[in-house]
Amino acid sequence: MRALLDILILAWYLHSVEGITIVNGQIYTPGLAIIDAPQPGTPEGGDYLQVAIDVSGDGRLGLPPYPQDVNTGILNMTIFLFSYATVLNLTISNGTSAGWTGLDDPSADLTAFRCSASTTAGWENAGCAEIMLQESGSTVKHVKWAWPDCLVGDGAGGSERGLYNISIHQSFRLNGTGFYTIFNLPIEVTNSIPSKTQLSVSGKRPLCASRENVLQSQTSQDASASTPSVQPYLGGAVSGGGGGATKNGSSCARGRGVGVFVLFVLVAGWTILS
Ligand SMILES: *[C@@H]1O[C@H](CO)[C@@H](O)[C@H](O)[C@H]1NC(C)=O
Ligand SMILES: *[C@@H]1O[C@H](CO)[C@@H](O)[C@H](O)[C@H]1NC(C)=O
Ligand SMILES: *[C@@H]1O[C@H](CO)[C@@H](O)[C@H](O)[C@H]1NC(C)=O
Ligand SMILES: *[C@@H]1O[C@H](CO)[C@@H](O)[C@H](O)[C@H]1NC(C)=O
Ligand SMILES: *[C@@H]1O[C@H](CO)[C@@H](O)[C@H](O)[C@H]1NC(C)=O
Ligand SMILES: *[C@@H]1O[C@H](CO)[C@@H](O)[C@H](O)[C@H]1NC(C)=O
Repeated sequence: MRALLDILILAWYLHSVEGITIVNGQIYTPGLAIIDAPQPGTPEGGDYLQVAIDVSGDGRLGLPPYPQDVNTGILNMTIFLFSYATVLNLTISNGTSAGWTGLDDPSADLTAFRCSASTTAGWENAGCAEIMLQESGSTVKHVKWAWPDCLVGDGAGGSERGLYNISIHQSFRLNGTGFYTIFNLPIEVTNSIPSKTQLSVSGKRPLCASRENVLQSQTSQDASASTPSVQPYLGGAVSGGGGGATKNGSSCARGRGVGVFVLFVLVAGWTILS
């Protein structure tokens, strides 16, 4: 019975990864951003989360900052961590340098995690810089976010831990037309997150309460997006031109492979059950 449960959980999980396009280990969002890390389904933990995003389309686009009237480029990006299982929607970066709510109340957040301060590891916590403008000169933006207090723990246990999406919202222009896409990258917050962080002198973590947003339904999420009909680099407006545009590498037919595998484990599960 335990084996069957494991199989069904695995099948459900792999099913949720279906449809994500991975080319040479890079995750293609429906917009212009390409995610280098983490891979979908990675168990996450430690002191902080790091999301590495290639904003140059793997060399196809120029570097930001862009002129106001840029023809093709990411205008801005916001990132959230949310879960319909835990009903949490936390800001990783709201795309401004305004920082966090609740900072008027000194007890609400710790110095190391405030804007224009830095953690003991030397970096500024996500949410204090526009993602497109950080690490100037680099095509890859490394968004580092100290895990807030409610995600502390080990394993899947604990009320707020478990499956999440890193939700990447992009405003961008493609061949002169504006778009807004939402891409959800599934991860598991199941590795150990120690209650005491090394990132602040006091060892205290930022508060989830100062990062929380209303959780919207899938329907309103879908309604707020305007997504190009074709992935820009894979047959869409950018695929024809620019440096490296024809580099399509070993695009894995992941969706189909996963589908076949899900079918296999369901049959295996049924065999065990009967
Ligand atoms: C992650 O997002 C997808 C939609 O993109 C949704 O179906 C799924 O339920 C979300 N996962 C969690 C844990 O909320
Ligand atoms: C992102 O860019 C769009 C289009 O220019 C703009 O409407 C929106 O306010 C910007 N968002 C942020 C967070 O800067
Ligand atoms: C970003 O967060 C700051 C601080 O909470 C807030 O003042 C600002 O309005 C937010 N901006 C957007 C575009 O959500
Ligand atoms: C999470 O909150 C942000 C800020 O309010 C919002 O833009 C985003 O759509 C929300 N995501 C979900 C899944 O509700
Ligand atoms: C880009 O826009 C121009 C002018 O609207 C159009 O002629 C061209 O076909 C577009 N290119 C692509 C790849 O969509
Ligand atoms: C890209 O993929 C197509 C179809 O699979 C193939 O015909 C073409 O040779 C590939 N191009 C490169 C540069 O690998």
